[in-house]
Amino acid sequence: MFAPLLLLQIVALAWLARGDQRIIGANTVNIKDAPWHASIIVQSQLKCGGAIISKNYILTAAKCVDGYSAGNIQVRLGSSSCGTGGSKVGICEVKVHSQYSSWRFDNNLALLKTCELINATNEMKPIERATKVPEDNSRANLTGCGARSGNWLNLIMDKRLISGIEDKWWHLPVQLQGTQVRILGQKQCAADWRVIPFYLLKGISDLTICTKSPGKGACSTDRGAPLVIDNKLVGILARAGCSIKPDVYANILGHTHWLDSNTKD
Ligand SMILES: *[C@@H]1O[C@H](CO)[C@@H](O)[C@H](O)[C@H]1NC(C)=O
Ligand SMILES: *[C@@H]1O[C@H](CO)[C@@H](O)[C@H](O)[C@H]1NC(C)=O
Repeated sequence: MFAPLLLLQIVALAWLARGDQRIIGANTVNIKDAPWHASIIVQSQLKCGGAIISKNYILTAAKCVDGYSAGNIQVRLGSSSCGTGGSKVGICEVKVHSQYSSWRFDNNLALLKTCELINATNEMKPIERATKVPEDNSRANLTGCGARSGNWLNLIMDKRLISGIEDKWWHLPVQLQGTQVRILGQKQCAADWRVIPFYLLKGISDLTICTKSPGKGACSTDRGAPLVIDNKLVGILARAGCSIKPDVYANILGHTHWLDSNTKD
């Protein structure tokens, strides 16, 4: 187990060192332009993104928090930086979607209940959920603190699998990043993902939304990131394509019942 992992680390370092520092096509974002953005911290490490959806709930990807108790999770809200500033708030309850499976794209959602109420300001406030599914090829905005260069290693490896590598090698940004991407049709998205031998993933359906834009998109730590159209939440990143494959999001509109019934308290 160790030898292949070490080899992978060496290969990873070589690959990552060669990647350019730019995000996959992103710019620095001021939190005032995305006050719903949350950074999810698991065991003191920045792991994912998320979105504030009510005065006490953050929505993120199940994969980010599955298997961790609430006490190991915090969220950073209201900061334009990835690792500092804003308010760091504790999580008191984790609700992973009951149909989540790590082998599927769909149902990759989890709700995090904050221990304190989130007092809305210009830097942190809930985002409304979208009321209609976006059309293919329409534009959407993405925010995140994920790797800024895409390659096969980023795509296949998870940061947490080789956590010995420092954030700088993963090209994680210091400031929150954002980019504009385009919605990709379901059929094309499924076709683009089908050929990956490592990932016999299933579940691209009405419960998911894909995006694809040349030289732009999500990678690694972006998971959980909000996909937004006209200041309304349309998706939560389930699987980053690292600009090699389409990015796959949970379709917020497909989960209205689950969201409504789990955010009442
Ligand atoms: C919001 O305000 C309440 C009451 O003043 C306070 O207890 C709570 O800590 C505040 N929440 C945050 C996230 O700062
Ligand atoms: C994306 O963000 C930019 C900058 O804030 C904004 O001008 C644009 O309207 C947004 N696009 C969508 C589709 O929401």
